[in-house]
Amino acid sequence: MNLKIGTVEIQKTAALAPLAGIADRAFREVCRRLGACYTVGEMTSSKGLTYQNKKTADLLTLGPTEHPGGIQLFGDDPLTMARAAELSMAYEPDIIDINMGCPAPKVAGNGGGSALMKNPQLAGQIIREVSRAVPVPVTVKFRKGWDARSVNAVEFAKMAEQSGAAAVTIHGRTRQQMYAPCADWQIIKEVKDAVCIPVIGNGDVDSVASAVRMYEQTGVDLIMIGRGALGNPYLFTQISRYLLDGTLLPDPSLAQRMGYLLEQTRLAVEYKGEYVALKEARKHAAWYLKGVHGAARLRGRTGSLKTLSDLENLIQDALEEEQKSASQQ
Ligand SMILES: Cc1cc2nc3c(=O)[nH]c(=O)nc-3n(C[C@H](O)[C@H](O)[C@H](O)COP(=O)(O)O)c2cc1C
Repeated sequence: MNLKIGTVEIQKTAALAPLAGIADRAFREVCRRLGACYTVGEMTSSKGLTYQNKKTADLLTLGPTEHPGGIQLFGDDPLTMARAAELSMAYEPDIIDINMGCPAPKVAGNGGGSALMKNPQLAGQIIREVSRAVPVPVTVKFRKGWDARSVNAVEFAKMAEQSGAAAVTIHGRTRQQMYAPCADWQIIKEVKDAVCIPVIGNGDVDSVASAVRMYEQTGVDLIMIGRGALGNPYLFTQISRYLLDGTLLPDPSLAQRMGYLLEQTRLAVEYKGEYVALKEARKHAAWYLKGVHGAARLRGRTGSLKTLSDLENLIQDALEEEQKSASQQ
C-alpha cells in the first residue's frame, strides 16, 4: 500500500531519517538500493543557502535513485526560509521538509529547529511562507515538545496542518530528552489521531519487530528510521520484505555487510574525494563492524583509515578473522 504526501506517492515500508553528518548521499543511496522508500537529506541552513555557500550546495544534492526524496531546511526567519526553499528547487527535491525538532544549540539556540515548538505562531508563518514559495509539498519534522512541562505535539501538528503542511514527522521525544530514553509512541498515536494529513512516526525503530510494532501501536502512515540503520542498511530490505509477504529474512552475513560498507565508501569517494570520504567512513566502519568477531580490535583500526585501500585491507582482515573463528568452532 502507498501513501500520498500532496501529489507525491511513497511506498508504505520504511524511510531513512535525516541525519546530519551521517546520512549523506552515499549512505542514502545504499539505503535506497536496499529498500528505503523515502530519504531526506541532511538539514541545511536556510541562511547558508541564501548566501550560496558551496558546502551547503553539496548537502542538497540528491542522487538519481533518491526519488521521491526530500531536502530539509532549518532557520527561524520566514522569508529567508521561503527564499532558501525556492533556491533548493534547483536540486529537484520532491518534498521540502522543515526542521522543527533539532535540539542542537547551534540550531535551537538561534531560534530554529526545536526552539520553534516554543513559538508556534512563528512556526506557522514559516510553513505558510515556504509552502507559498515552492511547487512541491512541504512537510514538518518536530518532537513531542520542548520539555516535559510543555508537551504540545498534538496542537503543533494541527497548527502545521492548518498552515499548509502536507505531512508531519513526529519524533517521540522532547527537546530536553535529546536522544534518550525511549521514544514515546503514545504521543505519535495522538498526533496521528488528531490530523488528516499523513503522519510519519519516528524514534527507536531498529528491527523488523519494532517496525511492525510502531505501525500497529500508532497507526502511522509511514515509519522513519535513524540510528537503527547505521551500519545496517539491509534493515530496509528486511522490513520491506516482511511487510510484503511476512518473510523474515536472516540478518546479512559479514561479507554482505562489508560489501555495503565498501559500496557506500566508494560512492562517498566519488562525491567528496578520498580524504573527506575516508575520514567520514571511520565512524561508519565502526558501526558496520559492530558484533563482529574481534570487533574491538578491528574497530580500533577504523580511526586511522585514510585511503580506500586501508579500508579494503581492514575488510579483508575482518573476513579472515571470521573464517578463522568459524573453523575453530
Ligand atoms: C547524529 C544525528 C544527526 C541528526 N540529524 C538530523 C537532521 O539533520 N534533521 C533532523 O530532522 N533530524 C536529525 N536527527 C534526528 C533523527 O532524524 C531522528 O529523529 C532521531 O535520531 C530519532 O530516530 P531514531 O531513534 O530512529 O534514531 C539526527 C539524529 C542524530 C543522532
